[in-house]
Amino acid sequence: MTASFSKDFRQGVDINLGVGYVNDETIPHEKLADCFQYVLAHTEQYKNSLNYGSADGSENLRTAIRNYYVKHAIGCLGAERLAKKSICIGANGATSLLDSFAAIMPKGIVITAEPNYYIYIETLERNGFTVLTVPEDTEGMRVDLLEDLLQQIDVNQLSFLYIVTVNNPSSIIMSNARRRAIVELVTKVGRKVGKRVPMIFDKAYEDIIFDTTIEPVQSGMLYDEDGLVVEIGTLSKIIAPALRIGYAISDDTDVMRALVQKTGDIGFSAPLINQEMSARFLDAYISNHALDVREGYRRKADFLKKSIEEHLGQYLERYSGGQAGFYFYLTFKEIETHSESKFFQFLSRTTGDITIDGDPKNPRLVYVPGNICVSQTSKAKEVGNRQLRISYGFEDIPVLERAILLMKDAAEYAMK
Ligand SMILES: Cc1ncc(COP(=O)(O)O)c(C=O)c1O
Repeated sequence: MTASFSKDFRQGVDINLGVGYVNDETIPHEKLADCFQYVLAHTEQYKNSLNYGSADGSENLRTAIRNYYVKHAIGCLGAERLAKKSICIGANGATSLLDSFAAIMPKGIVITAEPNYYIYIETLERNGFTVLTVPEDTEGMRVDLLEDLLQQIDVNQLSFLYIVTVNNPSSIIMSNARRRAIVELVTKVGRKVGKRVPMIFDKAYEDIIFDTTIEPVQSGMLYDEDGLVVEIGTLSKIIAPALRIGYAISDDTDVMRALVQKTGDIGFSAPLINQEMSARFLDAYISNHALDVREGYRRKADFLKKSIEEHLGQYLERYSGGQAGFYFYLTFKEIETHSESKFFQFLSRTTGDITIDGDPKNPRLVYVPGNICVSQTSKAKEVGNRQLRISYGFEDIPVLERAILLMKDAAEYAMK
């Protein structure tokens, strides 16, 4: 639906709750223009910013990321520990680092949470990996079920774990206890068979945890005795996706060296000018800007939460989201949400009933159906068929209000 919908999307009429776009208003256009000018004017610090870059990234940016982490106590890592870590800047956002990971790791089993970040899971499957999933609860991937799974499989076939710390699609924030338990368990299980099993912690949405009651997030690297954790971050959500700045942080291991090599092979790390502008932005502006961005998403989340509870509450078994990122993940009691369902057809105006579809088409609404975020076991499929992800990144509050009312109409139609 997303592809066909985006072709003939009508601005101001149709509603896009499907895309993972950030809100344009959170993008600091003017400050980025200042950063651009600043970088070009200060060649003593930002040498050759319009020339080729390097495979591992600009020294200015890697230093700026380290300083950003230390100043804001990100991951509770501290200056000393961070100084010992390698940082690799990806060619094209976190996405390219994840793709490179798929290229450098031996084909085998990848374990991730359910529901899963379907975009990367599809990449992994296309690359010949077998993806196994472990359901999450309110603290993230369940470690008891992970332990069971690790007993059932041949750990030698395990390629890596992929953990999204504020999960996409569910927006569930992994607790510190859970991070620790996973790192310790996988380290122990790997040691038993003499195998190093990397754990990727994708922290794409950690910069936009806006619920201030959440305990400060601890990096999985704090418990990583064997150098197995690779954290993947991005400036997409907190500054601007178009900069295409993603980064990996880890010990200086073979895996990190292979990641740098792969980044070189595909045309170096991100355009140097974008890296230098990002370095300047982190040095000069990030503190206040990050507060503004979080506040913007918090307002939208609070509004949407109320609206969901008021208008859709009676149809829902549960929902998650509203503390971080910009997704809500809904699980209906009975209503199905997949592309053949009445609910979906109502919102895509493909019911065949002109009083509903309209001529021309009535406002349409796009979301991500849950069935593409779950594995193909019959139990997971049954639940996935009643789930959906809505994004409040892109659309503004008045549109979100219309969206929930439309979903309420769709729910009434589906229940008829
Ligand atoms: C979980 C997750 N990881 C990575 C990314 C990609 O980030 P980037 O824009 O840096 O490629 C996204 C983007 O939506 C995401 O949701």
